[in-house]
Amino acid sequence: MKIIRSIPEIKKELGRHRKRGRSVGLVPTMGYLHEGHLSLIRKARQDNDVVVVSIFVNPTQFGPNEDYREYPRDLRRDARLCKKAGADYIFYPAAKSMYPKGHSTFVCVEGLTKNLCGRFRPGHFRGVTTVVTKLFNIVSPDAAYFGQKDAQQSVVIKRMAEDLDMGIRIEVLPTVREKDGLAMSSRNSYLSSDGRKRAATIYRSLQLARDLIKLNDKDAPGIVREMRKMLVPVATKIDYVSIVDPLTLKDVRTITGEVLVAVAVWMGETRLIDNILTRY
Ligand code: PAJ
Repeated sequence: MKIIRSIPEIKKELGRHRKRGRSVGLVPTMGYLHEGHLSLIRKARQDNDVVVVSIFVNPTQFGPNEDYREYPRDLRRDARLCKKAGADYIFYPAAKSMYPKGHSTFVCVEGLTKNLCGRFRPGHFRGVTTVVTKLFNIVSPDAAYFGQKDAQQSVVIKRMAEDLDMGIRIEVLPTVREKDGLAMSSRNSYLSSDGRKRAATIYRSLQLARDLIKLNDKDAPGIVREMRKMLVPVATKIDYVSIVDPLTLKDVRTITGEVLVAVAVWMGETRLIDNILTRY
């Protein structure tokens, strides 16, 4: 496994593989890898001849008061995990080579980025779609792998790839969870031991929604109220508890088919998101 920092070098290296007709799979990450990331790398390994994992804490997707500086980083550990999961390359660019002086082009997906996290993190998705476009242009993968954990991100990237005729297959894989149901996240490392215990309620609130929907409850605002009752005592702050259409991400009132139940809450200083797809 090679670690490559330079954009021209990774292009050259992957160009050689492509000339030989080899398929390339890309797993974009911000590092500090956990089982969620590794499940994407393993799937990319199954599907492709060459597997590239990008590790880049992307400054343009963090707001001015967010955790860009504090975001956990550990390349040595990540490299070990990538190698074990079957990656061939880690692409590990410097921020100044991804965004050299004068960079002024951004990619925006409209509509889908208005609701959910888009309401609370202005500019976040613009940063995500811009960096993912750059990674796609640098790596030219046949397929790219994303997690359902970031449901809105996955929907937005699928839309972007289709709208801009990128010709890249976007695969979305299930959320990997801890034993108590907490979705794995690099940000879980910020939690205090008490916060970590309280965080398990997030998944329990999603299970409550699933149970109510399966029991024929079609009233989305009523279900949201029940979920909030569970979350209020444990969360420091609730950004949103929403039941939305999984394709348009617009709020649903009456549940008639598949819905995305999505939550963003703060446990102390840590913002956590989670979701489930479920159907009536
Ligand atoms: P990051 O948070 O590092 O996540 C990288 C990928 O891993 C994303 O597709 C995310 O959905 C997936 N992932 C995270 N936790 C997961 C879990 N518990 N189960 C399954 N998949 C999980 O998402 C980003 O980085 C960035 O926004 C990025 C796309 C790399 C652009 O900068």
